[in-house]
Amino acid sequence: MTVVLRSPQELRSWRKQQKGSVGFVPTMGALHSGHEELLKQARRNNDVVVLSIFVNPTQFNDPKDLEKYPKTWDADLAMAEANKVDAIFYPRYDEMYPDSYRYKVTENSYSNLLDGAHRPGHFDGVLSVVMKLFNVVAPTRAYFGEKDFQQMTLIQGMVESFFMDLEVVPVPTVREEDGLAKSSRNVRLTSTERMQAPAIYKAITESQTADEAAERLTAQGFIVDYVTDVGTRRFVAARLGDVRLIDNVQI
Ligand code: PAF
Repeated sequence: MTVVLRSPQELRSWRKQQKGSVGFVPTMGALHSGHEELLKQARRNNDVVVLSIFVNPTQFNDPKDLEKYPKTWDADLAMAEANKVDAIFYPRYDEMYPDSYRYKVTENSYSNLLDGAHRPGHFDGVLSVVMKLFNVVAPTRAYFGEKDFQQMTLIQGMVESFFMDLEVVPVPTVREEDGLAKSSRNVRLTSTERMQAPAIYKAITESQTADEAAERLTAQGFIVDYVTDVGTRRFVAARLGDVRLIDNVQI
């Protein structure tokens, strides 16, 4: 049975009774098969599995994006139960931010590039909430999708920099059959936009250069925030209507 714990205190006292390794999947809910893959890996490799569902306001630079973030509690609970999650941590805002966000975690270099350049404060919000979640859950392993590759890399860096005692496990991006990366925001696409959206994956995998991919997407009606190659990966963020989609691939 999956227990639902609403405050850091409740989670902590439950956690003290658990034995063995703890696999942790932090999410903002609206779970899809990409999240399910994280849960399955956590279940396979740990004695105990914790899922967190918290739509973290400090990482939303656009209030409309926060307001429209999908909420699907019943389906999320069903997925957690089907995947034998032991506990869902589902805290309220004031329980997670008793200091009203006076304290935060900031990275000063990589977080200013790519998504960070277009979403001021976004990664401060992500790193701060993930640090809080790690401190409360005290996981052995935490699972993150490679779709948010920059986020995952920054979290790995935070764990190393602060000598945090856990392993960050990257999980490959799960895609629809047409190549579109699974994302909670995909449900906000209109049916026409949903048909256009796989062009993102096609453009970044088929183009010779990042500029060529950006031009292809612009010509197809996307508002492109960036297509950038960093090391051996190509990153993209582009908007269709009011939905912003991101993706990345190995090149
Ligand atoms: O990737 C997400 O869903 C969020 O950024 C995370 C890691 C749960 C932090 O709020």
